Amino acid sequence: MKPTDEVLAERRARVAKRWELTDEVVVLRAGEPASWSGTDQHFAFLPHPDIAYLTAVGSPGTTLAFDAAAGEWELFGPRFTSERLVWEQPPTPVGQPLDELGAWLEQRGERTVIELGAGAAMPQALPSSAAPDKADTPDADTADAAAETAPGDNADEHADASTEATVLRLSAAIALERMTKDDAELDDIRQAAAASTAGFEWVYQHAAPGMTEREIQVGMEAQFYAAGAPRVAYDSIVASGPHGAYLHYVYAGDDPLRPATRTVEAGDLLLIDAGAQFGGYASDVTRTMVVGADPTDEQEFLWKLVLSAQQQTIDMCRPGIVWKEVHLAAARILGAGLVELGVLQGDPAELVSAGAVALFFPHGLGHLLGLSVHDITSIPYSREPSDDPVLSKLGPDRVLGPGMVTTVEPGIYFIDALLCDPARREKFAESVVWERVDELRGFGGIRIEDDVLVTDGDPEVLTAAIDKPIRIG
Ligand code: GLY
Ligand code: MN
Ligand code: MN
Repeated sequence: MKPTDEVLAERRARVAKRWELTDEVVVLRAGEPASWSGTDQHFAFLPHPDIAYLTAVGSPGTTLAFDAAAGEWELFGPRFTSERLVWEQPPTPVGQPLDELGAWLEQRGERTVIELGAGAAMPQALPSSAAPDKADTPDADTADAAAETAPGDNADEHADASTEATVLRLSAAIALERMTKDDAELDDIRQAAAASTAGFEWVYQHAAPGMTEREIQVGMEAQFYAAGAPRVAYDSIVASGPHGAYLHYVYAGDDPLRPATRTVEAGDLLLIDAGAQFGGYASDVTRTMVVGADPTDEQEFLWKLVLSAQQQTIDMCRPGIVWKEVHLAAARILGAGLVELGVLQGDPAELVSAGAVALFFPHGLGHLLGLSVHDITSIPYSREPSDDPVLSKLGPDRVLGPGMVTTVEPGIYFIDALLCDPARREKFAESVVWERVDELRGFGGIRIEDDVLVTDGDPEVLTAAIDKPIRIG
């Protein structure tokens, strides 16, 4: 649902309050399409999520400006020349013509202009002290903290550091608002989920041995579009058999010019991680099933294990819990299952902290979802980067709160790149039963993923309508 003008005004007012600016001018840009090098073509365009959130529009060039002294927002949108209108339909006209932005800025004289969105110069090394969670704590002055941790002694470096710190602080303020979804946003996520449901239903009814991964992908995505989704939220992953062990296996990932595709065989695991997008909002769903045969004992054991880990950790998605704890709970459940299967040996909690479970569950349990499938990732996490095998891929260890939407996506994979590495084999000689692992090479992977809304009560699974069959075809 497109947010009303009133809702947009509320979003902007909340952001302006967090910014606490007095005199500056902020310019938030949607960006421009990325060009396909060597041609006059461009890739499909999506606006920077911060401007999509604050305006609900976003043709290339769209710019939202804020005059802090006046407390006023001004929207500028592109208008096409008649020459351009011969080739392209006009973008929906919004706000003032973009051509007038320059004059608007000149009227504001010498005041500091801060570029955000696609125009922002985000620092490469982000101080964890400026993380949005911390920006939300009353005793943290994030601008000062970010400036303090920025390097440099001479005046120029100080200027750069202070600009970066300001960009970071203001971007983090928008992120904090985007982290909690309002009703209009939830409505779009629900519509994205509904379109995804149509696609998965098609898979359940049509996918069968003898079809290629590509045929299944195309058939599924056709249903996303038929259900009203303008596009997919990310490249669909349709991975059969051993391909399920590549976490982000996508069509044409091997060769953009002449992509290969695999024909699904009876008894294969088929891992599909796909989601429709609606109103700019993503859905992100994974189902794994055996095609055209009853599951083997190992397929069934691991499928039920992953499902159990997912169910238990979805139930933990409640206000106040730190995401890292939810992730570690999933890892312990999966670790205990791998011990039962004879792949690991030892105490599950110790196997998690040693990194042995991460050989088979090498990604974070989930991520926030919204205007980007991996939402709010351009701002720092609330901890320093880590080499820890368990935590390095975790993503943000934020405290969950009502209105946040997170994916919950445990998985077990048999990944050659990890499991055939001699250094890892030596390091985990005691805790991994390598003969058992060798029996399971080529197994692929099992992931089950849903989109979960944290509420004041029980978590709400926004993708609950998408069935979880263990066998199709
Ligand atoms: N679809 C990518 C992910 O699950 O994070
Ligand atoms: Mn996914
Ligand atoms: Mn995901």
